[in-house]
Amino acid sequence: MPSLGAMLARVTTFAIDGVEPRRIVVEVDIRPGLPAFTIVGLADTAVRESRERVRAAIQNSGYEFPQRRITANLAPASLRKVGPGFDAALALAVLAASGQFDPARLRDVAVYGELSLGGELRPAAGTLAVAEGARRHRIPALVVPAVQAPEASLIDGIRVLGVSSLRGAVDAVTGRALPPVTGPSVLGGAGTIEPDLAEVRGQGFALHAMEVAAAGGHNLLLSGPPGTGKTMLARRLPSILPPLRREDAIEVTRVHSVAGLHTAGLIATRPFRAPHHTISAAGLVGGGSPPRPGEASLAHRGVLFLDELSEFQRPAIEALRQPLEDGRVTIVRGQRALVFPTRFMLVAATNPCPCGFAGVGDRCSCSEPDIRRYERRLSGPLLDRIDLLVDVAGPSEAELRAAPLTDSATVRDRVILARQRQLHRLRGTRAACNAELDAGLLQKLVRLDEAAHASLGDAYRGGALSARGRHRVLRVARTIADLAGREVVTRADVLEALTLRQRIGVAQAAPA
Ligand SMILES: Nc1ncnc2c1ncn2[C@@H]1O[C@H](COP(=O)(O)OP(=O)(O)OP(=O)(O)O)[C@@H](O)[C@H]1O
Ligand SMILES: [Mg+2]
Repeated sequence: MPSLGAMLARVTTFAIDGVEPRRIVVEVDIRPGLPAFTIVGLADTAVRESRERVRAAIQNSGYEFPQRRITANLAPASLRKVGPGFDAALALAVLAASGQFDPARLRDVAVYGELSLGGELRPAAGTLAVAEGARRHRIPALVVPAVQAPEASLIDGIRVLGVSSLRGAVDAVTGRALPPVTGPSVLGGAGTIEPDLAEVRGQGFALHAMEVAAAGGHNLLLSGPPGTGKTMLARRLPSILPPLRREDAIEVTRVHSVAGLHTAGLIATRPFRAPHHTISAAGLVGGGSPPRPGEASLAHRGVLFLDELSEFQRPAIEALRQPLEDGRVTIVRGQRALVFPTRFMLVAATNPCPCGFAGVGDRCSCSEPDIRRYERRLSGPLLDRIDLLVDVAGPSEAELRAAPLTDSATVRDRVILARQRQLHRLRGTRAACNAELDAGLLQKLVRLDEAAHASLGDAYRGGALSARGRHRVLRVARTIADLAGREVVTRADVLEALTLRQRIGVAQAAPA
C-alpha cells in the first residue's frame, strides 16, 4: 500500500560513454505536495522525455502513478546522461518509492531498457556494454529487454533477467516470476564465409596480394580499369581472414550494439563495411549528437572497403588518418572525449585515371594534367598507410574459361598459419600482426639474410624506395616469409614485396 510520508528508492542503470559503461544511480524521492515529476542530474532531452513514457507505461501496466511530488535524481550529476535506456530503471524506482513493492528489492539489480507507452520493454543500444558494467560493479543481476538477453548473457558472472514488459520487470525483481534463463547466442562464425574466391577466374597476382594482405593485416589498394573484378575481389577478402578470437568478437559486438544495430548475440564473423562514396566524415569515423560510432568503428576487427576511392570527399578521407594511425578515434563533444575502436583492414579500389583506362594499351583518353590531378586526389593521408598497391587487369578469355586458381578455404588455412607465426613472434608487444610493426619492432624482429639486405639496399639507393617505403617493404616481406614458414626473410621475399607495390600511376608520382 502506498504510504503517505516521503519515500526513497534507488536502482542502478548505465549510461554509455563511447563504448564504455558508466554506472548511474537513479534515486526517486516521493513526498506529499502538488503532483509533479522532475528529473534532475544533467539529463539530455531523451531522458527528460522519459517522464512521459514512464508515466504512461506505469498507468497502462495497471499500476498507480503517484499523484504527489516526484523527484528523480540521476547520479553522479557530473556525467551527461544520454538516451532512452533509463526508462525502466526510472519506472521501477517510482513504483518502489510509492510503496508498490519493497525498495530493498532493487538493491542487487541493475536495470536497462526503454519503455513504450503501453508498458512494453524495448531494446536499447549498448546492452552488451551495460552487462560488462554490471559485472564490473559486481551487481549480481541485470534486467534487460527479453530480445537482448542473449546479448547480455555473453558476459559471465551476472544473472540476466530478460523481460518484455514493465510488469515482467517487477515480477522479476520481486521474485514473483523469474524469466527463463537465456543462453548466449552466436551469430555466424563457424564454417565458410560467402562469397568465395572460387568464383574468381584468373587474377593470380591480385589473389596473391590479397593473401598477403590477409596474412599480415596489410591495407590494400586495388587499381585498374572498369570491370576487371576489383569490387569482386575486395568483397571476397572476409572469406580468407582468420576467425575472430572471442575477445575480439566481444569488442565487435559491443561497438555494433552501441551503434544501435540490433545484434541479439555474439557477432562471430569479421565485419565487412562498404560505405558509399558520398559518406560524410562523421559517418565514416563517428560523430553526431549523441555521438555514434562511424563506419570505421563498425569495421573494427574486419574490413573497411572504400570502393571508387577517388570519389570520396577529401574531408572524409582526411578524417581516416587518426583511426588508421591509432586504431581508435576520439570524438570531442563539449567537455567529453569519446573513444571508439577502429582497428580495421582498409581495402580501397580505384580506376587509375578519370576515364579508367590508363595503362591499357592506348585506350586512355585522359590528358597528362588530368591524370596528375587524379593521382593527387588519391595520394596523401591514405596512401601513406597502404602497404600493398596492386594493379588489376582483366582476366584473359582463356582464364575466364579455365577453372578457378584457388578457393577461400585453401587460402584461409595458409593465412591462419601465417598469423599464428606472427602472434608467436609478437607476444609481449602491442602489435598483433605484421601490418602493426613500427620502426622499432621492425628493427628488432625482422631478420634478413645477406642477399635480402643487399636487394633492399639496391632499391633504396636506386631511388625506387623512400625511407617510409622501405619499412613497408620490410613489413610485407616479413608476411611473405611467414606464409612460406621462414623465420629469416630472404632476397626472394624482398623482391616479391617490391612487386606488390607497383602501380602505374602513383608509383611514378611518388617513390614507394
Ligand atoms: N576475374 C574474374 N572472374 C570472374 N568474373 C569476373 C572477373 N572479373 C570480373 N568479373 C565479372 O565482372 C563483373 C564486374 O566486376 P567488378 O564489378 O568487380 O569490376 P570492377 O573492377 O570493380 O569495375 P569498376 O571499376 O567499374 O568498379 C563481376 O561481377 C564479375 O561478374
Ligand atoms: Mg567496382
